[in-house]
Amino acid sequence: MKYLITGGAGFIGGHLAESLIKDGHSVTVIDNLSTGSEKNLSAVADSPNFDFVKGDILNLPELEYLISKSDMVFHLAAAVGVELVVHNPVFTIETNVHGTERVLSGAKRKKTKVLIASTSEVYGKSQKELFSEDDDLLIGPPKHSRWSYASSKLLDEFLGIAYYRSMNMPVIIVRLFNTVGPRQTGQYGMVLPRFVSNALTDKNIEVYGDGAQTRCFCHVADTVRALKYLSANAKAFGEVFNIGGKDEISINALAEKVKDILRSSSKIVHIPYEEAYEKGFEDMRRRVPDTGKINALTGWRTELNLDKTIADVAESLGKQ
Ligand SMILES: NC(=O)c1ccc[n+]([C@@H]2O[C@H](COP(=O)([O-])OP(=O)(O)OC[C@H]3O[C@@H](n4cnc5c(N)ncnc54)[C@H](O)[C@@H]3O)[C@@H](O)[C@H]2O)c1
Repeated sequence: MKYLITGGAGFIGGHLAESLIKDGHSVTVIDNLSTGSEKNLSAVADSPNFDFVKGDILNLPELEYLISKSDMVFHLAAAVGVELVVHNPVFTIETNVHGTERVLSGAKRKKTKVLIASTSEVYGKSQKELFSEDDDLLIGPPKHSRWSYASSKLLDEFLGIAYYRSMNMPVIIVRLFNTVGPRQTGQYGMVLPRFVSNALTDKNIEVYGDGAQTRCFCHVADTVRALKYLSANAKAFGEVFNIGGKDEISINALAEKVKDILRSSSKIVHIPYEEAYEKGFEDMRRRVPDTGKINALTGWRTELNLDKTIADVAESLGKQ
């Protein structure tokens, strides 16, 4: 099969490209290298089945042509990371909404399959125990820039489902919960690489807020398997799927775990949200996925636990 990955030089895209090439497929990546890096593609760069196009999906003239040559598009290119989003809300909304519009419109003529990467952020401030795909969503007000990411991704979801309903386009939406693993950068506010990197150098581990907020982390290799399972299943078209880890952990406990596993003497310190992000920053206390839907359709479940993930992140950061 021929795959196109937008944002394929990013953290998840690089792992997906590697895995698809390993399976014997052809992969073309389009990336403007804004948050991604060609280093994420070094394992496949020399493969005859791999092509890299440096370009911006917002204005790349050959986007439609590249889509038309592919059997499927994994649309991962987006403005990502809480810090980046809070400080660049216009850029976030334009990249995420207009980028998805261009990809879907480019896929129309040949009805090319498109998988759109959305996010658990769309559940917003919902207080449900487990987040399920058909839940109502509770997003905060537009004066808090952080919600521009969730809102733009939610509009992408609506657009994808609208293309499926009105044009019978094979579109799949995935809501990724915190995905972590080797090569993820802490530069844009991702919590695990920030913690591991500071633990490795015995610098302070900075927990934002009181640290009692909980998250579920999913190893990128498990996420990639989920993306591949869904892409191969026609029953996934027109549907939304959660993809995430099942073990819930508080950010305080995560900081302790990172310290223990890496035998670090870092101090754990707490930074108020206002200082870390913006005045009035709102965070979710919990965010736990119900992954029953993807499991029922494809049999997918996570295989790699958090200890293994932390060790993999540390090994990858140690090599840099
Ligand atoms: N990592 C997570 O925990 C997580 C959680 C929820 C959703 N997601 C979604 O998964 C996707 C991949 O995320 P990631 O963690 O790999 O982030 P990433 O920042 O590493 O990857 C995004 C890639 O898109 C590229 N890009 C951005 N704007 C572009 C544009 N206009 N044209 C071309 N390329 C562009 C970047 O250079 C980068 O390589 C994103 O859509 C993100 O919203 C990720």
